[in-house]
Amino acid sequence: MTDKQLIVAARAAALKAYAPYSNFSVGCAILSVDGEVVTGANMENACYRLGVCAEISALTAAQARFGLDKVARIAVAGGDGSGHELAGISTVTPCGGCRQSILEAAQLSGRDIDILCASGDGTTHDVHRISDLIPHGFGPSNLAEAKPA
Ligand code: THU
Repeated sequence: MTDKQLIVAARAAALKAYAPYSNFSVGCAILSVDGEVVTGANMENACYRLGVCAEISALTAAQARFGLDKVARIAVAGGDGSGHELAGISTVTPCGGCRQSILEAAQLSGRDIDILCASGDGTTHDVHRISDLIPHGFGPSNLAEAKPA
């Protein structure tokens, strides 16, 4: 699967968003080391703070399908999902909480994870490593190091 195809999958997933409060649809597609793809979209709630981001939705699907340790590459796209295609010219980077969850997957596998951060309309994207998005992050390796030998 090419980067372009992964972004197409993320943009398509965004059209499944349940985002009646923000009207901001986000889709996420995750590629496994074996070439499998899972997707997710944000799911908001009338109790606003209970909303779930697209990345968490997709990571949950990844956990069920192939395991967090197999996450290889992630695409995220967000924007206006009211039409037949996701729209919007600005790129979306994962929020802080999502970065923390992606870091968990990265530390589990010992691999850095590239995140393709795409605009809603898919015309542009930036690639960021999770180690750049959350430098000096706290993760499972910190807990492992704290255990007595
Ligand atoms: N959102 C995501 O799904 N992922 C992000 O990384 C940023 C924000 C969602 C949460 C909320 O439903 C909407 O976008 C507006 O913040």
